[in-house]
Amino acid sequence: MRQVWIEKFGRPEVLRLREAADPLPGPRQVRVRVEAIGVNFADVMGRLGLYPDLPPKPVVPGYEVSGKVDAVGAEVEPDWIGRDILALTRFGGYSDTVCVPEVQLATRPADMSAPQGAALPVNYLTAWQILEVMGGLRAGQTVLIHSAGGGVGIAALQLAKRIGAVTIGTASGGKHDALKRLGLDFAIDPSKEDFEKGVKEYTRGRGVDLVLDAVGGKSFRQSYRSLSPTGRLAMFGLSAAASGKRRSWLRALWTAARMPWFDFTPTRLINENKGVFGVNLAHLWDEIERVNGWLDALLQCWSRQEIAPLISATFPLDKAADAHHYIQDRKNVGKVILIP
Ligand SMILES: NC(=O)c1ccc[n+]([C@@H]2O[C@H](COP(=O)([O-])OP(=O)(O)OC[C@H]3O[C@@H](n4cnc5c(N)ncnc54)[C@H](OP(=O)(O)O)[C@@H]3O)[C@@H](O)[C@H]2O)c1
Repeated sequence: MRQVWIEKFGRPEVLRLREAADPLPGPRQVRVRVEAIGVNFADVMGRLGLYPDLPPKPVVPGYEVSGKVDAVGAEVEPDWIGRDILALTRFGGYSDTVCVPEVQLATRPADMSAPQGAALPVNYLTAWQILEVMGGLRAGQTVLIHSAGGGVGIAALQLAKRIGAVTIGTASGGKHDALKRLGLDFAIDPSKEDFEKGVKEYTRGRGVDLVLDAVGGKSFRQSYRSLSPTGRLAMFGLSAAASGKRRSWLRALWTAARMPWFDFTPTRLINENKGVFGVNLAHLWDEIERVNGWLDALLQCWSRQEIAPLISATFPLDKAADAHHYIQDRKNVGKVILIP
């Protein structure tokens, strides 16, 4: 099999393709011949050495794949063999062959392409957890989606539209037309204008009911201030720490220093009628049955044509570095996929 490894932290070019013997599925596992791999911003953070969950180097990154099952381990029904699937992987996804616990698999619908299958799990589960499970977004409410052109951003936009919410998104200016065509009601370029001011103007001073913020640093504070009474802020990432293509401790510390460590006090939350919560899908492995319930709901949304993963670009597996450049150059509108 061929895999892409992080052997050291640094620029995208540190990603190295290596060959190894095909793995054999262990008990309760299946082996997947991978047809598409989802690239996530977490992989970029991992490559930069800014992702605390990354196992020790050398490590194969990658949280999601789609492909075909070609072997099963003990205690797994053999009728999985030959089925098209999508799967969550706990690292190891940047590979043309992976062994995955059966519990992390779902059958891929016949009308869903392999790239769409690899684009769905992480982005849509994260957006689902925020909008449906914890954020309680309702029809007629307004949601602010940061990095609206990213994988989670597009997933959140589609799920918010399905609910009937009004959508405001931040994104680089070049993505605004595409986002409006996808149904975004109001776009803000945070590199050109203060998003807090833009939100207040658009909502006539009221603020929004829910914010999805994975930018972090001072953005969390501004997002909190953008909430209306009864509004909720979802914090789920720190992309501001990844400003360059090499790790910069200075930048990471600067981002951390500007976090609202002492802002959301109990008295302030009580008196302002606001909620703040955190999401980390990668810390829900012990709740996988629940997460699978969310995935089932998402696959039903797919069958009703309420969601459709948008593929921004595909790269061959041996060009994983180019895929990371593409994301860090802020070019993607939708998901970036590797094809083995
Ligand atoms: N906690 C969780 O469970 C969880 C799960 C999935 C994702 N996340 C987080 O959600 C965020 C988005 O992830 P994703 O996979 O959807 O992203 P993605 O598809 O890789 O898109 C990233 C987009 O984020 C924007 N961005 C903001 N700051 C950036 C920076 N410093 N460098 C480069 N791009 C930056 C860029 O769009 P613009 O130029 O248009 O702003 C870029 O196109 C990340 O912070 C990620 O870690 C968290």
